[in-house]
Amino acid sequence: VGKPWEIVVGDVRRVLRDMPSESFDACLSDPPYGISFGGNRWDYNIPSANVWVELLRVLKPGAYAMLFGGTRTFHRLMVAVEDAGFLPVDTCLWMHGKGFPKNLDLSKAIDHRLGAKRTNVVGHKNAGLDRGSGASVDFQGSKGRDETGLIPVMTPAPSQASLWDGQGTALKPSWEPIMLACKPRDGTYAENALKHGCGGLAIDASRISYASAEDQAAAAAAQRLLDPAPSMFLGDQPNSAASLQPYLDKQSLGRWPANLLIDEEVAPMLNGASRFYYVTKASREERDRGLEGTAIAERTDTEALGDGGRGKSNVHNDHPTIKPLDLCRYFARLLLPPPRADGRPRRIVIPYAGSGSECIGALQAGWDEVVGIELDPKHAEKARLRISKGKILQHVKK
Ligand SMILES: C[S@@+](CC[C@H](N)C(=O)[O-])C[C@H]1O[C@@H](n2cnc3c(N)ncnc32)[C@H](O)[C@@H]1O
Repeated sequence: VGKPWEIVVGDVRRVLRDMPSESFDACLSDPPYGISFGGNRWDYNIPSANVWVELLRVLKPGAYAMLFGGTRTFHRLMVAVEDAGFLPVDTCLWMHGKGFPKNLDLSKAIDHRLGAKRTNVVGHKNAGLDRGSGASVDFQGSKGRDETGLIPVMTPAPSQASLWDGQGTALKPSWEPIMLACKPRDGTYAENALKHGCGGLAIDASRISYASAEDQAAAAAAQRLLDPAPSMFLGDQPNSAASLQPYLDKQSLGRWPANLLIDEEVAPMLNGASRFYYVTKASREERDRGLEGTAIAERTDTEALGDGGRGKSNVHNDHPTIKPLDLCRYFARLLLPPPRADGRPRRIVIPYAGSGSECIGALQAGWDEVVGIELDPKHAEKARLRISKGKILQHVKK
């Protein structure tokens, strides 16, 4: 307390238990998905309602929580959070074009099971795509290279396996769910805001900038604010240009923030995509920023499986589930209440902080105090270095 940020090492439930009630204005968190991600022990379970009950206690009435989930287990997260006493408010969806199917090639698996060796080489490949940047990378250490130094692509010999050629087990992941929940309010929205200083979403600060002047004009025309119908203004409000100005000023800030966010690959596929916030996956440079000079680790990119070859790359930040800073900052900004008249700090808690992406996003968004909680001291140290050495305020997207 009293510091702009802190990463507490420990189990979320225990750490929260030692914190005073009603001491945070919001929560942003990327909790374990319960899918044993990359074989990590910490990802074996979705945190239970017992954990979220402690979170509920430390939040002020009306405070919001944004929680990342996985498409397979999101329902369990929502149920646990709701069972703990939170009110579900919305589900945001981040659509991106850079996911990789975690697929099992069934015909290969059958060959393997039957001990059959493939010999019919139909081509070679060398690389997969980097999950972060989308660039093609040579996965050093990928097994299965032949004398050409490349990875042979083979078809099954006519056998039971060949019948299964073309059968797999997974779809390409193209979106991520994010739960928006809130602690029940103390009275009305207005009473809660006056008493506890939280309970709203920062809509204007999170508006989506227009792509161009034409885009803005089209949005204005759609809302008919430039040429209002008399029926829009009831009672004795004069239908004058001056009375419209506040509406036009708000509108010039951008479009209303939506519960859909997209990346630049999805944008061209959606007509009128500029109405959604753009976020790309975290680049390697972003993930490693601030960690220069620390040990290099081999990161197994469990999302970049292609068919069979696990992507490996040498990185400083080997955390397997790093969120993009743009996304974290955007959500943190949406959660930020207005400054307090008495100067008391606005505080956000980030359970399951990992290597600190959500903490960085919160500091960039302008939170006065950010408290991260992370079980693994190695990840916590990475978070501290990324925050303290990553020049985080110089890397803020407008
Ligand atoms: C999905 S990751 C978050 C990664 C983060 N989004 C980032 O960009 O670095 C979840 C983190 O929760 C941590 N964790 C798992 N169980 C925990 C627990 N009981 N208490 C505290 N941290 C825990 C894991 O070590 C892991 O780093």
